[in-house]
Amino acid sequence: MRIHRAAPEAPRGGVIVKKMRSLRARAFDLLKKNRRTTDGHLYTVPSPDTYPYQWLWDSCFHAIVLAKFDPEAAKAELFALASRQFDDGMIPHILYWSPGTLHRYDWGTPGTSALTQPPLLAYAAWETYKATADAAFLRELYPHLLRFYRYLIEKRDPRDHHLVGIINPDESGEDNSPRFDDVLHVPADITLADHLARRLELVDANRTCHFDAELCMKRHFWVKDVPFQAVLIENLRTLGHIASVIEDADGEHFASVNSGLVTDAVRERLFDRDAGVFWSAAGNEYRPLKVATWAHFAPLFTDLYSPPEAKRVVEMLFDERTFWSPYGVRTVSKQETSYRPDGYWRGSVWMAPHWFIYKGLMRYGFMNEAQRIRDASARLLEQEGFREYFDPETGRGYGAHDFTWGALVTDMVEDDQT
Ligand code: GLC
Repeated sequence: MRIHRAAPEAPRGGVIVKKMRSLRARAFDLLKKNRRTTDGHLYTVPSPDTYPYQWLWDSCFHAIVLAKFDPEAAKAELFALASRQFDDGMIPHILYWSPGTLHRYDWGTPGTSALTQPPLLAYAAWETYKATADAAFLRELYPHLLRFYRYLIEKRDPRDHHLVGIINPDESGEDNSPRFDDVLHVPADITLADHLARRLELVDANRTCHFDAELCMKRHFWVKDVPFQAVLIENLRTLGHIASVIEDADGEHFASVNSGLVTDAVRERLFDRDAGVFWSAAGNEYRPLKVATWAHFAPLFTDLYSPPEAKRVVEMLFDERTFWSPYGVRTVSKQETSYRPDGYWRGSVWMAPHWFIYKGLMRYGFMNEAQRIRDASARLLEQEGFREYFDPETGRGYGAHDFTWGALVTDMVEDDQT
């Protein structure tokens, strides 16, 4: 199934093993350094200078890495998320544990955000379980997981079409991605500050419908985002494994039925056969949001492409005119008018997309291609340190310092290489 046989771009053998060992040590040190405890809750801040609180999908990334060297911390980090679960099952995307004003915006509720983020929680719990075989941990976290995924399936899909909607771009984890420009009515050259102001306006609008997902989606912003569905499907499958371990037949049934329904709906409504890719879609009428972003590659993570479709999409991934750069994967194609190499989610390289793509490539057997992603990630971290995002054309690091997502590179290795 492998299609790209070009030589990997970094030195191999002993050198790469040594390089990865040193990055592992740095990543683990960083996670320890960014660890905080508030009111008995342990969590890791994504970056002390920029993001000094807890974020949902960031904590899942942390737990996936922590599972390998400090699984007790991984468990505590996931329980900290669960401790702020809403009555309806939603888990907020930010938990403001400590007071402070640094990058602290009002996302709808005091103390936390009223939005969520890509639901990687079951996957993170499963990785933690795999490292510990601690079924008691799974049993304790499981009711929170089940309520969270039930919330997404039951409240975020008002038409019962089996696609889960987001009510703000921040719920995608890709705050200013141009995938949402059309729905937000913003121009391709919008600044980051103006974009944030626009998203906060949307929060104000959502306040008027009390963050009731159905009302808010119908009135203000309703996107069926491709990476969100891909993460959801994989996590519903994982929820099924968890339910089976703790012998909850109803939960297993819920997970298996819904992972199948969402998979079929994504194929039916978001796949463009001619282009060979999935597009996110807006509103009642499923208007395709045709901006070429790394969202094309996210479905590899959960097996949404057939092998021939995957082969075609991997060719797109390594096309230097669009997505592949000397420093890894542009989050937006270079051909888009909105593409900005230093534009945050408007083209820059980020480590989380690299990790999702790495996992997807491995899943389909594209081992050499996966190594190219891993090597590009390692090279950026070595050259620029653990920065938030990177310029695909120059490799320059931008944004937060001591940003934890680089630690995901420690999970981009085959087990026997670590
Ligand atoms: C930025 C990212 C978001 C992340 C947060 C904390 O807002 O876009 O995905 O969760 O920072 O790292």
